[in-house]
Amino acid sequence: AKMSRPVQARRLEGVDKNIWVEFVKLAATYSTVNLGQGFPDFPPPEFLKEAFSRAGHPPLVKILAQLFGKLLGRDLDPMTNVMVTVGAYQALFCCFQAFIEEGDEVIIIEPFFDCYEPMVKMAGGTPVYIPLRPKAPKEGKLMSSADWQLDPAELASKFSEQTKAIVLNSPNNPLGKVFSRGELELIADLCVKHDALCISDEVYEWLVYDGKQHIRI
Ligand SMILES: Cc1ncc(COP(=O)(O)O)c(C=O)c1O
Repeated sequence: AKMSRPVQARRLEGVDKNIWVEFVKLAATYSTVNLGQGFPDFPPPEFLKEAFSRAGHPPLVKILAQLFGKLLGRDLDPMTNVMVTVGAYQALFCCFQAFIEEGDEVIIIEPFFDCYEPMVKMAGGTPVYIPLRPKAPKEGKLMSSADWQLDPAELASKFSEQTKAIVLNSPNNPLGKVFSRGELELIADLCVKHDALCISDEVYEWLVYDGKQHIRI
């Protein structure tokens, strides 16, 4: 029987359609290569699968805490600082659910990976957008993803009393931009000033080319 009241919660309004859903359909219809999302077509190495199947949870989080503790330059408690999730989607979903309260604002840098917006909305938050703006490349040079930049004053203007977090994605999907130390410092300083979190999606941290360096915020 049909329910007499709306089945879907109001906070889900407008989160069912987006450009990525459209492109997945188009790519399937016309058999094109879909570069919109990370679809790795290679399995993890055998030794890794075998090690994971033997490891169990405590040894796994211990190894991850050691590895990422070194990379982040701080001591991580395996049982409280590490959470194993099924892909980055689940990690992001858990972050937004854990940190975002009804009415909180979350700054999202455009262009962005599709899931941030619906996940913020599903947590009851309000997305606030700030674009990376393309600058003209230097004389005689081709444009690169590094030419897409934040305007510092514009970014500062997006922070308010309601700002709970900013989502950073470096290396960025879809641009491929690797944020520089200066750009990260700008974001970090604003987070400290406004007592806001930075939710940092670094799923492509190992896919960095052309002498660029990934820096963890
Ligand atoms: C920037 C970004 N974050 C998160 C994800 C989701 O990753 P996973 O497939 O591990 O859930 C993707 C996948 O395309 C992505 O491009």
